Amino acid sequence: MGVEICVEGLTKSFGHQVIWQDVSLTLPAGEISVMLGPSGTGKSVFLKTLVGLLKPDRGSIVIAGRDITRLREHELYEVRKLFGVLFQDGALFGSMNLYDNIAFPLREHTRKTESEVRRIVLEKMDMVGLLGAEEKLPGEISGGMRKRAGLARALVLDPEIILFDEPDSGLDPVRVAYLNQLIVDLNAQIDATFLIVTHDIASARQVPDNIGLLFRRELVMFGPREKLLTSDEPVVRQFLNGRMQGPIGMAEEKDAAQVAQELAEIDRSTGGDAVRDMTPRLLPSPEITRPPRWEAIAGREAERPAERGTGHGAAAHSGREPHGGPPPKAEPEPEAEPGPETRPAPEPGTLPKTAAHPGPETETGTGAGSGRGARA
Ligand SMILES: Nc1ncnc2c1ncn2[C@@H]1O[C@H](COP(=O)(O)OP(=O)(O)OP(=O)(O)O)[C@@H](O)[C@H]1O
Ligand SMILES: [Mg+2]
Repeated sequence: MGVEICVEGLTKSFGHQVIWQDVSLTLPAGEISVMLGPSGTGKSVFLKTLVGLLKPDRGSIVIAGRDITRLREHELYEVRKLFGVLFQDGALFGSMNLYDNIAFPLREHTRKTESEVRRIVLEKMDMVGLLGAEEKLPGEISGGMRKRAGLARALVLDPEIILFDEPDSGLDPVRVAYLNQLIVDLNAQIDATFLIVTHDIASARQVPDNIGLLFRRELVMFGPREKLLTSDEPVVRQFLNGRMQGPIGMAEEKDAAQVAQELAEIDRSTGGDAVRDMTPRLLPSPEITRPPRWEAIAGREAERPAERGTGHGAAAHSGREPHGGPPPKAEPEPEAEPGPETRPAPEPGTLPKTAAHPGPETETGTGAGSGRGARA
């Protein structure tokens, strides 16, 4: 079971530049949360602060009962073992093959024998569909494979918390769909607490339990997915719909009059209707036993149908939305078997049995899925 992370009044600056201030949120144990925000708003800085790589100016980060902002370096070293981190660029060692890259944290942080290391490394490589690619160097594989190798490395210490910094950047839409399924499946299997930074709005709409948005040095909102997807807050609506109209400008801040004019124009063109869209949630693959919280999630989302907008137009911004018009009660019941139509893959029939093993990319992979069910 993952652990809760409780952030209170967190502020970070570099010199005179305040990155964000007074950020408070709770990442619920075992849930998937996504952090959104325009480029440069400090999402990567936030992840690095959570792991204790950067020190905040003020505020607390309580993990498993300890405020990590107050720990000494050797104590932090222990806390960091709770984390698996997938950095923005994968951060693999270029001169090491994938096997050694993935084995690195085990050799560095544990006293496991080489045969134990081997068992764990191969299990994680299997989980992310990379079995058979052990000898490859990072420079010899595709971007998608590098991301998954980074993910396997983030998993080897059986983390309670996994942080992903743009796991999907630079991937084609089909790879992103597979990666999203892998993330949802992993979360159902290992039940760790996930925080994902992404710019991919379609992923942000389908994958998480909770969404947060950083903008202008503040956490504008953080809460259950459905709360943000149906929010009237202009910044949230603009970001989740990937629109130019709204408070977020290309370079700097727009003035209030311009924003009001743009928002009025949107409301006129959409008949005064809020552009809000309850995108169906991406479910774990059918063969994976879902943890009990899935029932709570489905119940929570079903409570809000009256507040949902008709959503027309919202999905038009994403080529990968599985459904164009989201019916208000589109949320699946917990016991309902997830049909392939709830997944973002463009051709449901072409999905492999387990989406964690995207065959085409793993040219050296065996595609065997033996390791996956064991942890369910
Ligand atoms: N070590 C550092 N020293 C000084 N400034 C930094 C440091 N790290 C980040 N910054 C600054 O903090 C701000 C936020 O950077 P960050 O990388 O967190 O943005 P981001 O939201 O992750 O952006 P992107 O979406 O482009 O990845 C930027 O202005 C950046 O220049
Ligand atoms: Mg970043």
